Amino acid sequence: MNNDRTTYFLPTGTEEQNKAQQNTFVRAWKSLAPLMLGERKRLIITLIAVLASTLATLLAPVIIAQAVDVYIVHGNYMGVLMDAGLLLLMYVIVLVAGYNQTKNMGTVGRSVLFKLRNELFAKLQELPIAFFNQNKAGDLISRINNDTDKLNQFFAQALVQFIGNGSLIVGAGVFLVVLNWKLGLAALAPAAIVFIITQLLSGWVKQKSRAGLQSLGSLSAEIQESLDNFKVIVVFNRLDYFRKKFNTANEQNYKASIWSGIASGVFTPIYGLASNLGQLVVLCYGLYLITTGNLTIGLLIGYILYVNSFYNPLRQLATVWSSLQLALASLDRIQDVLSLSTNMPIIEDLGKDEVEMKNTSNSLLPVLAFENVSFTYPEGKSVLRDISFELEKGKTYALVGPTGGGKTTTASLMARLYDPTEGRVLLQGKDIRTYKSHERAEKIGFILQEPFLFSGTVKENIVYGNANYADCSDDELARALETARLSSLIERFDGGLSAKVSGGADGLSLGQKQLIAFMRAALRKPELLILDEATANIDTVTEQILEDILSHLPSTTTKVIIAHRLNTIRDADQIFFVNAGALTLAGSMDEAVELLMHGKRSS
Ligand SMILES: Nc1ncnc2c1ncn2[C@@H]1O[C@H](COP(=O)(O)OP(=O)(O)OP(=O)(O)O)[C@@H](O)[C@H]1O
Ligand SMILES: [Mg+2]
Repeated sequence: MNNDRTTYFLPTGTEEQNKAQQNTFVRAWKSLAPLMLGERKRLIITLIAVLASTLATLLAPVIIAQAVDVYIVHGNYMGVLMDAGLLLLMYVIVLVAGYNQTKNMGTVGRSVLFKLRNELFAKLQELPIAFFNQNKAGDLISRINNDTDKLNQFFAQALVQFIGNGSLIVGAGVFLVVLNWKLGLAALAPAAIVFIITQLLSGWVKQKSRAGLQSLGSLSAEIQESLDNFKVIVVFNRLDYFRKKFNTANEQNYKASIWSGIASGVFTPIYGLASNLGQLVVLCYGLYLITTGNLTIGLLIGYILYVNSFYNPLRQLATVWSSLQLALASLDRIQDVLSLSTNMPIIEDLGKDEVEMKNTSNSLLPVLAFENVSFTYPEGKSVLRDISFELEKGKTYALVGPTGGGKTTTASLMARLYDPTEGRVLLQGKDIRTYKSHERAEKIGFILQEPFLFSGTVKENIVYGNANYADCSDDELARALETARLSSLIERFDGGLSAKVSGGADGLSLGQKQLIAFMRAALRKPELLILDEATANIDTVTEQILEDILSHLPSTTTKVIIAHRLNTIRDADQIFFVNAGALTLAGSMDEAVELLMHGKRSS
């Protein structure tokens, strides 16, 4: 059962993005329709409002034509007044319907935006660590913030116009042809040309829009990287270097946005020209028809109004069309993320067959076992080859080995941060892939080599993700820490449990961060506790305290300790030496030292 070697690089170029244009609408509809399901009532109201406003707009010219040809010509002023009243009614209908459309679609847009952001964020959480190794956070943030917002703008503003103008255009077009088909076709001819031009240009506009969004993503990634590493940049006096890198990204964004600006404006003048041409054609041809007695003045006025009703919305569609292309480009970038699926799914638990096969009672079952595990990082070199071992309940294991030897990788596989390329990892006799993530997190505590803290208080960071202490008071937590012998560690913080931790935890020393990570893991009383260089930045006195705490964890807790300092691991029951793809058992502390010094056994 090997995993697919999926890589998670999101496209960042613009080359391959010219996906089949004709599919765009279908794909857009497929991904957006489910998000709008809950908004059915609003959408129906909007549709009714659109139809009402279209009908009212289209009836107005008929009323005017009638007023001219029937009432004005015969001097019937009561009739004219009546028509004026009717017209006013039509205009009020258009006003009310327009207000309703905007209000409802605004709400639909915001709701789609809300759901889409949630969906994106949920997807990000479900994706494996490899995805985050391969993509820059800044670009991801830009996808969640900017791209969804572009889509929202389309929904809130453009979609109403799209539907409203679209139905007006169709309606006016039908009226034009039905009233006088020759004049009608002449009036529509410029629109046909515009339609063809639009078809030809849309792909290009979308591509330029996408390039604009892409470069915004890169810019945001650039900013994020230099903000994250600001200290290193100052220490190495590389401000210039990063300024240059930023300037390059900014310049690219500038150029791309100029093009996307041009692209978004390209339709407006073309549509304007078509509109004017349409009116000109109708005026000339209409006057000719009047002189030959084939048209009345009232009808010509009505006709010109219809040409207006046809071309005005068309002209507005020009703006909306670019905004649609921008929205589609955004949607593409969002779908790049949404269409990824994790290559680390929870697999089906096929009962307890493995446990029975081993014919051992639960207490004798190894807490964790590697079965012929090999591992290679995506596009990296092979780190582990065909490794098998078992960790028994309650024992302490040490992993030693040279830098880059594969200790952290082995530990990451134990906690299922990655899945093995080959072989299996068993947690209490069952494939680790059958455990839900919360079950796994309950059983395994992992203190990372680079501890990560969230902004909040020390307390919040300690109880992070721990359901048992989610709502406990300071006192309750203090007592729990006392029982776990952890309270002496709290004294290392000014302000104790309520000491503030800023995002990135800059106000704390690395050792203090490790203490918090240690308390976070120890308080969970996991069955397997993995410490990756957890004491590397802690003074020897505190280290003694940590050792004391470790030795007072429940006797059933299995510990895996990764350390460079050998005194940290002298109490280990077994020492594994990890290097060059292999994991070998070092019989004793002395042998481990020998292995470390010479990379091989002395005998
Ligand atoms: N995310 C990654 N992508 C690709 N290669 C990686 C990644 N993380 C580690 N490696 C590579 O895998 C190998 C093992 O790394 P690992 O972090 O497991 O070493 P380690 O034994 O923990 O070293 P140290 O003692 O310095 O912490 C190294 O060659 C490293 O370059
Ligand atoms: Mg390491």
